[in-house]
Amino acid sequence: MQKNSSMITGLGYAVPEKVLTNFDLEKMVDTSDEWIRTRTGMSERHIADENTASSDLSTQAATIALAEAKLKPKQLDMIIVATVTPDTLFPATACYVQKNLGAVNAAAFDINAACSGFIYGLTMADAFIRSGFYKNILVIGAEILTKITDWTDRATCVLFGDGAGAAVVQPANGGSEILKTFIKSDGRLTDLLILPAGGSRIPATHESVDKRLHYLRMEGQEVFKYAVKAMGDAAIETLKSAGVSSDELALLIPHQANIRIIQATARRIKLPMEKVMVNVDRYGNTSAASIPIALTESIQQGRLKRGDYCLLVSFGGGFTMGAVLFKY
Ligand code: ACO
Repeated sequence: MQKNSSMITGLGYAVPEKVLTNFDLEKMVDTSDEWIRTRTGMSERHIADENTASSDLSTQAATIALAEAKLKPKQLDMIIVATVTPDTLFPATACYVQKNLGAVNAAAFDINAACSGFIYGLTMADAFIRSGFYKNILVIGAEILTKITDWTDRATCVLFGDGAGAAVVQPANGGSEILKTFIKSDGRLTDLLILPAGGSRIPATHESVDKRLHYLRMEGQEVFKYAVKAMGDAAIETLKSAGVSSDELALLIPHQANIRIIQATARRIKLPMEKVMVNVDRYGNTSAASIPIALTESIQQGRLKRGDYCLLVSFGGGFTMGAVLFKY
């Protein structure tokens, strides 16, 4: 075991009840189930109702993760919420989660690394534990992307879903262990994936609303190109620096943005699809929530056994990328 390493001791996820299928979308925009399935691998996604915010799903997911870790909210030192759809621009969504849980002793803050947010959060938690600063850290990836989705734009509105996933990270005890983390960004690509208004560059005005600038915009094909490269690079770099070959991986859990991006990443590291977790068909792209949801499901489905190597890998708006290699 590495000195002061960390491990995931509890996991949980929550998605809204309402399901929106491709057939529902056919009635909303000029699209088809066939187009969406063949271009993205998606069949349905979960959609939050108007009263649900990211902190609500976060709290549900966190409660499950804390129970698995047998940790009381008061024992938490830190709550990190990764999201691009916070409840409010400030205070941080993590502070609402803190209130909901009664985690009165924690430092709570949000991070924004788009779809790579959970990987960034896990990396920070691992570093805080390795440094000896903190012991009990809750990392959450949570998104209600459907509230920043332009439901008149067929090129984006078919892609996204809502959800939250949470992980409790604590010092490793000789079994499971986070072995390697890797995060990187390329700020030259900020325009590829952006929510243009609502910040200090373009504050909310009648004009910004009329121009639909408060909805997510994306250069789909460009994002696709960079996504394939970023996820492959992050995976290869992480495996190489850990001295682990892709043959040794029991499971790859990539960000669930598009089945074709996932397949291309698997090909790049020469991994058969049987060793790749895919649930994009049922949840769509849930951004920062996608990896913790997929990780929780893969364990529930018995796809990881104790001692197995698992690689999480992501890309997202920013452009951000990252990977975490751990022994389950
Ligand atoms: N239904 C039917 N037709 C559509 C739809 C739709 N929903 N959307 C676009 N089309 C049309 C286009 O108008 C175009 O028509 P044209 O040829 O007549 O002009 C045609 O389909 C092909 O469009 P492309 O954009 O070339 O389709 P592509 O094969 O690239 O697939 C997609 C589009 C699925 C968006 C793909 O580019 C992709 O997955 N990109 C990456 C998206 C992604 O991963 N985003 C991550 C966001 S994560 C975050 O940080 C929030």
